[in-house]
Amino acid sequence: MAEVSGGQALPLAERRLRLGIVGGGQGSFIGKVHARGARLSNRWDLVAGALSSRPQVAQESGRAWLLADDRIYTDYRVMAEREAARPDGIDAVAITTPNNSHHAIACAFMEKGIDVISDKPLTTSLADALDLVRRQKETGLVFGVTYAYAASAMVRQARQMIRDGALGALQQVHVEYFQEWALTPLKDAGAGAQWRVDPSIVGPTFTTGDIGTHCHHLGAFVCGRPITAVRAEFHTLGPPKALEDTAFMHVRYEDGIPGTIMISQVAPGAHCGLRIRVFGDKASLEWNQEEPEILHFRRFNEPARVLTRGEGAGIGVHAARFVHMPRGHPEALSDAWGNLYEEFAIAVEARRLGRNLPAGLLEYPTVVDGALGVKLIEAALASSQSGGQWADCTLSM
Ligand SMILES: NC(=O)c1ccc[n+]([C@@H]2O[C@H](COP(=O)([O-])OP(=O)(O)OC[C@H]3O[C@@H](n4cnc5c(N)ncnc54)[C@H](O)[C@@H]3O)[C@@H](O)[C@H]2O)c1
Repeated sequence: MAEVSGGQALPLAERRLRLGIVGGGQGSFIGKVHARGARLSNRWDLVAGALSSRPQVAQESGRAWLLADDRIYTDYRVMAEREAARPDGIDAVAITTPNNSHHAIACAFMEKGIDVISDKPLTTSLADALDLVRRQKETGLVFGVTYAYAASAMVRQARQMIRDGALGALQQVHVEYFQEWALTPLKDAGAGAQWRVDPSIVGPTFTTGDIGTHCHHLGAFVCGRPITAVRAEFHTLGPPKALEDTAFMHVRYEDGIPGTIMISQVAPGAHCGLRIRVFGDKASLEWNQEEPEILHFRRFNEPARVLTRGEGAGIGVHAARFVHMPRGHPEALSDAWGNLYEEFAIAVEARRLGRNLPAGLLEYPTVVDGALGVKLIEAALASSQSGGQWADCTLSM
């Protein structure tokens, strides 16, 4: 075991695991981010891919990614079949395709005993999300979901401080995410923008599924308790589209703690303005993903403190284990993806070796977190359609 600051230890790798990716080819966005995160973690080799829905792009992208010819696929079903049959087949698959394909792709690989890392939102319907939860339980496979912000060192720090009582009793939680890109008229927008407003591909919501799910997960993760109910109001403020591009929500966390989620993708000047503020009865924390190395800690009636990512100086073990560079050399979202892929690898290796890990060692988002995100989408939509009635956000399984 490798010792890190504060005595927490992550198991060393026995070997690099083999990763396959579905989606991510030329012209796409997040698949490449997965691939970089996996490589940065130093625990994965990227060996196979069905990188595009278009066969020629899948082939060209596979060659550009230096995959072996016989591991470049044009159909994920064939990839699942052939990889499962190889002695050196993939250990896990990363699903980086549009929302409506996540369920079918996950099933194809799980049926072959391959662990899954899926992007969010997990599925386009709650029934499909619960089906994946059931399949994961039955198979015992690892199923991670890439809410990557939660793997930022200072988000782990915030979670630990709240768990350790630094804020006193939690009283209110506010999460917001503002972007501007959906102001671009649809006819001028790229393919990734087109499918995001097509209900047959994106699911029943646009902005709520796209960035609201990040707020939902981040709030629950940092506070260490789920959101149980939501009251939502949807708006379409930007260029005409079938779905909402803005939403304002009141939420209740477990124990009745009140909070808000505010999201918009038509907010001029906003890039990736994801911010969380948590207030207890003694102090508050604030984290903004555009300045991810900084956590503001403010006690009532005392000078504010700015905690910076690094070793020591108030940094807890859960953040310290993801410190890769000294203070002053910035780390950011790419590093969070590396952290997440490190946790996924440790989980996959432990499952394959039949090794038990200490409780709480890994804090990556699971299939249940993914399903909770889908539940939020459905609940927020129902609430907005009902004129703002409270809707339940818990899972009944
Ligand atoms: N975790 C995050 O922070 C984050 C950020 C962006 C996007 N996402 C999610 O990632 C997913 C993809 O988003 P994106 O912006 O990269 O989309 P994109 O449109 O840029 O790329 C999607 C890719 O998937 C490919 N694809 C579609 N169907 C396929 C199939 N059956 N087999 C193989 N490839 C297929 C497309 O050809 C394309 O290359 C979405 O679910 C989105 O919500 C998550």
